[in-house]
Amino acid sequence: MKILKVTGGNALSGGIDIQGSKNAVLPVLAASLLTEEKVRIYHCPRISDVADMLSIMEYVGCKCAWHKDCLELQAACLNNDAICGALTRNLRASILFLGALLARKQEVRLAYPGGCKIGARPIDIHLDALARLGVALSDENGEICAKGKLHPGHVNLKFPSVGATENLLLAAALSEGTVHISDAAREPEIVALCEFLTLMGAEITGAGSREIEIHGKKRLHGTEYTIPADRIVAGTYALAALACGGNLQLHGPAAPDLAGQYPVIAKAGAHMFFRRNTWHVEASGHPKSVGLIQTGPFPAFPTDMQSPMLAAMLRSEGCTSIADTIYPERFGIVGELRKMGADVSRDGTVARICGTKQLHAAALCAGELRGAAGLVIAGLQSEGETVISGVSYIERGYEDICRDLQQVGADIRMEETGAVLSKA
Ligand code: EPU
Repeated sequence: MKILKVTGGNALSGGIDIQGSKNAVLPVLAASLLTEEKVRIYHCPRISDVADMLSIMEYVGCKCAWHKDCLELQAACLNNDAICGALTRNLRASILFLGALLARKQEVRLAYPGGCKIGARPIDIHLDALARLGVALSDENGEICAKGKLHPGHVNLKFPSVGATENLLLAAALSEGTVHISDAAREPEIVALCEFLTLMGAEITGAGSREIEIHGKKRLHGTEYTIPADRIVAGTYALAALACGGNLQLHGPAAPDLAGQYPVIAKAGAHMFFRRNTWHVEASGHPKSVGLIQTGPFPAFPTDMQSPMLAAMLRSEGCTSIADTIYPERFGIVGELRKMGADVSRDGTVARICGTKQLHAAALCAGELRGAAGLVIAGLQSEGETVISGVSYIERGYEDICRDLQQVGADIRMEETGAVLSKA
């Protein structure tokens, strides 16, 4: 088993090149199945979610090869349209093969997706939208079966679901006619997918707005695309600087992608500015409370930053509350932070954190990706050596959190151990 050992107390100073975005690359990978031609994806993060996506893509017949940070993919001939639970249960994004394989083969059988345990994650919006555009859907022995060609039409999503918007775009990209999506998700990852599909030959208007229109094409062609920097990884490191103090230069993120998180981190006391795609963050290590933060769809404060934010406020002046409207159950980190002496509590969908002067090291267990990142931020502020298990969660989305934080002065390392740490 891998564990992380984090010793707190160091201020963080220096530059970090921000890896490619997890939530942008996953739909782009699924979209690569829409053409028989070769696709090259640069700045692709080496994370386990990408590895799990590639296992599914290889299973259905796509050739996948890494050349440094470039993934070369070619789905010349797809020979499998049934994907079992052993392949889908590791990740939520496996649901994107529904839209992609439906577009390419007009028939797909897919086991339900898995992913981090952060509360209920239904797929009704994906299925309703596809059904409204003429796809025949059924559940056979716990697998989703979808058949048919997508018709042109207009769908109004009842919630701007990121995954459902992506699935519709994927399904519509190879269908003839126009699909109009109302109340579409506006996340930067939707814009990235639309850029990629446009480079492949699809015609899309409105990416990044509530109304997206896609004119599919009979054939799409190969292309090259560079994955944008991960706004959540960048935000995690900005919060680490907020909590520990220091001066970071985060290279890569685009300022508009940080809407929602930037003003909150500024309000918490970090001095920040942008120059030529570098996010400069300077902080004293004494964050100020920020009242109530509410997560929501982009451009609101991202749910993926909720646990790292709680952890960054452990030693703040005053109290901060965070309401997670996207995943009201995503507070697994609260019990772990209390083991370090944190004054943090949860009341339904709201967590409240009041700063304490001292935090002590503890044995902590991560239960999901962003909670794991939050525990790292907690460890960076506490006295003594914090040991974090559940490292596989962090590897789902952070390419090498030890490399990144070590290079700016953090005392963090990964170790292999035979021991099993108790969750108690
Ligand atoms: N929802 C439904 N029905 C659906 C789909 C979603 O009720 O059919 C609900 C969900 O239960 C949730 C809300 O709508 O309450 C948001 O879900 P959404 O579909 O927007 O999220 P997602 O596509 O499953 C992506 C990211 C998540 C991120 C959310 C919200 C990927 C692979 N995952 O999930 O990322 O939290 O959008 O921004 O893109 C992470 O990176 O740690 C992560 C969980």
